Amino acid sequence: MEPVKVGLLGLGTVGQGTVNVLRQNAEEITRRAGRSILVTHAAIRNLPKAEALDLKNLDLTIEPTDIVDDPSISVVVELMGGLEPARTLVLRAIDNGKHIVTANKALIALHGNEIFAAAQEKGVMVAFEAAVAGGIPIIKAIREGLSANRIEWLAGIINGTGNFILSEMRDKGRSFEDVLEEAQALGYAEADPTFDIEGVDAAHKLTILASIAFGVPLQFDKVFTEGISAIAQEDVIYASELGYIIKHLGIAKRFDGSGIELRVHPVLIPQKRLLANVDGVMNSVMVQADAVGPTLYYGAGAGSAATASAVVADVIDVVRTLTSDPLNRVPHLAFQPGALADVPVLPIEDIWSEYYLRMEAEGRPGVMADVTRILGDQGISIEAIIQKEPESEGASVSVILLSRRVREGVMNQAIERIEALSSVTSRVTRIRVETLA
Ligand code: HSE
Repeated sequence: MEPVKVGLLGLGTVGQGTVNVLRQNAEEITRRAGRSILVTHAAIRNLPKAEALDLKNLDLTIEPTDIVDDPSISVVVELMGGLEPARTLVLRAIDNGKHIVTANKALIALHGNEIFAAAQEKGVMVAFEAAVAGGIPIIKAIREGLSANRIEWLAGIINGTGNFILSEMRDKGRSFEDVLEEAQALGYAEADPTFDIEGVDAAHKLTILASIAFGVPLQFDKVFTEGISAIAQEDVIYASELGYIIKHLGIAKRFDGSGIELRVHPVLIPQKRLLANVDGVMNSVMVQADAVGPTLYYGAGAGSAATASAVVADVIDVVRTLTSDPLNRVPHLAFQPGALADVPVLPIEDIWSEYYLRMEAEGRPGVMADVTRILGDQGISIEAIIQKEPESEGASVSVILLSRRVREGVMNQAIERIEALSSVTSRVTRIRVETLA
């Protein structure tokens, strides 16, 4: 049988990894796919840089339409990232009857509904395993492996750069900037690293996971998103004194039949939980489903070969289904396109959580009573309190509180009242607690 020809849009970290993995494992991949797979073309921005890579038998072009319009190419692998021109090129390739494999989470999270509809119309596949959690086959696991289940919630460390920064800062006392620089050099970070640090990248991935878990349309604009930049070294230390580790999680949860929660923010996790011990660039996603119970997926969340592993697996899937009936393929978002549910995404004020609060207060009697009175007035129970001694006479003290479960809207009112106290001299740092039980 003729080899299947693949064209790459982008030849950066993941693109080079894809070429390497396909060549390195060519024999096994052919046995799995039933046909050999050749990357014949790549579109790149910087021609001299790509030529220096000395990738043999690869036609290079700076014009991506050379690839999306080339009739010899069956599969277009989009690895350029960003929304445009990626969206236009992907839609044009679909219109030309090509199958798409992409690692572009922003593209799928924001334009997936449109792209899948176009693909459905043309009878082509859009595969996007590499868009979420790097090399972990989490899309396949949820969409196919867990398809017998009603999924109740999932929670995951889904940004490798952020997790690498948090781990290195905690374990080696390295500075934020220093670790970020290393993550960039290793090809983990996004082109705009604020996407990693401010949780936008994780929100893209959570949008995708929630859709395939709950059978709802992709709705990136409804995800509540908080990054890691506000986490101070002392929060890491106090969390540890209380028996927790701070992680940055994406959480998607059904709530009381009334809606779903979609949120990305730092959390305190009990130290013994497996997710609390996922460090460095590793990602991990825990899925709670009704029949199987909890399952946990772990692996490299970023990096050249790890992400290429997911890209190439998708290319193999596409090749295997080239001859199959489009109506009987696995649906893009796990549920049949006409069967997506219209479930509301709840505002963050309506979630329920335990909370870690830290504030600076005047080192004088009565301050703690003021704070606990406000919490009591709001009906918020306190699980633990730590009050640090002032470093010198008259200096301010740190007060750390752990609350019991309360609705976020009620906690917001309490925080507003605490911040208005003249004895409280800082903003209140609030980190939600996830017991993952
Ligand atoms: N910047 C992303 C991360 C790359 O660090 O997780 C993988 O999606």
